[in-house]
Amino acid sequence: MRARLGTHMADISLHINGSEKKVSVPPETPLLWVLRDTLELTGTKFGCGAGLCGACAVHVEGSAVRSCSTPVSQVAGKSITTIEGLGANGLHVLQQAWIAEEVPQCGYCQTGQIMTAAALLAKTPNPSDEQITRAMRGNLCRCGTYERIRKAIHRAAGAGGAR
Ligand code: FES
Ligand code: FES
Repeated sequence: MRARLGTHMADISLHINGSEKKVSVPPETPLLWVLRDTLELTGTKFGCGAGLCGACAVHVEGSAVRSCSTPVSQVAGKSITTIEGLGANGLHVLQQAWIAEEVPQCGYCQTGQIMTAAALLAKTPNPSDEQITRAMRGNLCRCGTYERIRKAIHRAAGAGGAR
């Protein structure tokens, strides 16, 4: 459920997927609402809206953050990448691995899973099982795809996953 937002609007510049975007929204608006409703980047999903499930993960300065719990004013001028940007130059190696391992079931959580995994591989190109568990534990999947996710991350790592 949406938080009640103030009526004060602010002009905010966002650097998203390599492009500058200007939005005029209440500064406390969650980044997720701006992505989906203002900029129509609907690949990022709303799950719990409370920072609990990871479905809304995007990258801010290369780290995975929960866009439902991040006021847009906090990320003004920072480099933001969404799933649309991750695959902008053809499928990312993780997306290829996800297909090869047939990871998605209903698919709803998978944007957040892939964005979190991509942030992991960028910092840890060949993660151990334990490192994968630690990095991915905040991303919930009600379809129980956790083992396939683990396999896909290992597959992507073997294929040079930090790309
Ligand atoms: S929708 Fe953001 S953590 Fe669940
Ligand atoms: S694939 Fe259905 S919630 Fe994860």
